[in-house]
Amino acid sequence: MAERNGSPATEPRNEVSRRRWIDVVLGSSVVAWLGAVVFPVLRYLTPPADEGGASKATLTDAQRVELKAKGFLILRIGTDRVLAIKDGDVKVKALSAKCTHEGCTVQFQASEALIWCACHNGKFNLDGRVLSGPPPRPLAAFAVAGDLTGSVTISKQGGAA
Ligand code: FES
Repeated sequence: MAERNGSPATEPRNEVSRRRWIDVVLGSSVVAWLGAVVFPVLRYLTPPADEGGASKATLTDAQRVELKAKGFLILRIGTDRVLAIKDGDVKVKALSAKCTHEGCTVQFQASEALIWCACHNGKFNLDGRVLSGPPPRPLAAFAVAGDLTGSVTISKQGGAA
């Protein structure tokens, strides 16, 4: 009898405790699932930071060596992709590497002395003007200070996109 009297009094307390424990586990699982799904989606949808609002870059030694050897280089300035091209022996010119059609990254074709977009066969001359294909506008120009005998700094011009 003593057990009977003791059992009903303790069982509801255990059940409440068990329910609370299950609620905590389920709640934690939902929060963990939301974190695993929602955070990557939000991170994907958020545009990348502008790396401190960079609007210019000075080429590193390695970049200058690569530019001398290959004749071109694609680098980032903030969120912009920039195509730097060796112009003569030491001069450098720089254009946006983002095609004005649908935004693909353009490529420098040294053998044909032009800039080519592989996505839809758009072609630009070395000043960025459209030669053929669907691009509606020329490639934006970037300002270049210095040359390959010393330091080279590339910066956005007023209207560069
Ligand atoms: S994205 Fe360059 S030609 Fe279409």
